[in-house]
Amino acid sequence: MNRPKYPGKSFENVLDSKILVVDDEESNVRLLEYLLNRNGYSSVRCATDPRDAVQIYREFRPDLVLLDLDMPYMDGVEVIEKLQEIETESYPSVVIITANNNEETKIRCLASGAMDFLTKPFNGVEVVARIKNILNVCLLHNRINQQNKILDQKIRERTQELADTRLEVAQRLSRAAEYRDNETGMHVIRMSRYSYLLADAIGLSSNLCELLQHASPMHDIGKIGIPDNILLKPGKLDNAEWEVMKTHAEIGGQILSGSGSNLIQMAENIARTHHEKWDGSGYPNGLKGEDIPLEGRIVAVCDVFDALTSERPYKKEWPVEKAVQELKDNSGIHFDPVLVNKFIEILPEILKVRESCRD
Ligand SMILES: [Fe+2]
Ligand SMILES: [Fe+2]
Repeated sequence: MNRPKYPGKSFENVLDSKILVVDDEESNVRLLEYLLNRNGYSSVRCATDPRDAVQIYREFRPDLVLLDLDMPYMDGVEVIEKLQEIETESYPSVVIITANNNEETKIRCLASGAMDFLTKPFNGVEVVARIKNILNVCLLHNRINQQNKILDQKIRERTQELADTRLEVAQRLSRAAEYRDNETGMHVIRMSRYSYLLADAIGLSSNLCELLQHASPMHDIGKIGIPDNILLKPGKLDNAEWEVMKTHAEIGGQILSGSGSNLIQMAENIARTHHEKWDGSGYPNGLKGEDIPLEGRIVAVCDVFDALTSERPYKKEWPVEKAVQELKDNSGIHFDPVLVNKFIEILPEILKVRESCRD
């Protein structure tokens, strides 16, 4: 576990910190308690039996432990190990009290998480100065930790705000396109949710599925650039008009091009490729098979299925069975055959969405 070396302490002033003194020699305990009290530390508790120390630690939650190394029942290193079991979020702050100055002992103590050493016999001035230094480090660390938490929270909020705004702008852009089109607002909601389901069914990550759901409503954004006499013409388009109509894919791509956002980049791909066909007979670029971006292929299936099963000014709504047959008949011609099979597999879920999002 990646734990901070110095735990975040709750005190705001070093003199308010809680200190636990553990030493089997009563005289040492009393001396340290006296030194600490005399220098303004009022929250000091003591233990002469290391087994009591663990229990006191649990209740008292000291900011600093002054811990003797050589004690009966449990030595200082064992006590540290017990304290570490209690402190799951951070290391307990421990200063070792020892008369034993050999290197091996010191390394063992440091390895077990001790922060410093106090050597017996004590020099009172040195002891108090060291304790104050260590508590100051804890205090600073605490402040930095708190600042970091506040900053983290702010960053999270701003990031969320940005993502929300981006999504909102995208949704409003799609809505703008609907005003120019015969297709209803419900069409883009249904086809975008079908797209999500289909993407999920073929195993795309939930992140990609969500991007697809939010990007696909912009598939026909390019219709903004098609003149009214063609876009809103009640009858069939002639060849020249149809050529103009087909430019909506390229116009959409241009409207959405050059973005740094994943969402808009995906929307651009969809706008450009949702009329490409698996056999290469689609527009605007006659892309074939897997050269057509997956998002374009997914949207093609979902867009057409919804168009077929919806009523439009120029046509009645097709029964689901007839629309499914149309997908099957065009599998490998207009549509990616793998996607058609998957779409039929998840048809019950698709129809649930259709029912809940009727025009
Ligand atoms: Fe389109
Ligand atoms: Fe559409």
